[in-house]
Amino acid sequence: MEFEDVNSDIESVVLTKEQIAEGIARIAREIENNHTGHTPLLIGVLKGAVMVMADLARELHIPIEMDWMAVSSYGASTKSSGVVRIVKDLEISLEGRHVIIVEDIVDSGLTLSWLLENFESRQAASVSVATLLRKPDAMKVDVPIDYLGFDIPNDFVVGFGLDYAESYRNLSGVGVLKPAVYGG
Ligand code: PRP
Repeated sequence: MEFEDVNSDIESVVLTKEQIAEGIARIAREIENNHTGHTPLLIGVLKGAVMVMADLARELHIPIEMDWMAVSSYGASTKSSGVVRIVKDLEISLEGRHVIIVEDIVDSGLTLSWLLENFESRQAASVSVATLLRKPDAMKVDVPIDYLGFDIPNDFVVGFGLDYAESYRNLSGVGVLKPAVYGG
């Protein structure tokens, strides 16, 4: 889905699909440089990371494996509490593996912070983080980002995996949603 398909819902374009492709290619080159001689395990955090994972995996010129994790927050205060529960756990063991967590966005940082702590006991050889987007002004906890696509302003953005009420994930770019759409 392109911006013109949802023109009336989008206030401004943050990243075009071309810019996103460049950012993902840049991340892929950095990952390749750091992972010669072994097969990293990319872990996508459902659902938002699906698009990033699909493009990043195909852009990488090294062997990789993929697994997925789904997490959900407890109750409505999710985002503020940072307490999450595992909806779908990993199927591949992390023991001895070079793990790269793949995210669409780091917003408050709470999800990632919880994931990194959860992974600590799983005996990975290394754990690093790749995210297409980061909102520096929204971060509540300091989380290490090893591979970053773009820093973006603290606006309500949708597209390329990011949703509002499950819609707009298939938008090929990232844009700011008009407040009228979500009653803002
Ligand atoms: C989004 C995103 C991250 C998380 C980041 O997922 O994919 O996992 O929020 O936010 P945080 O830094 O404030 O914790 P969301 O919970 O919206 O689920 P989804 O990926 O299924 O849309």
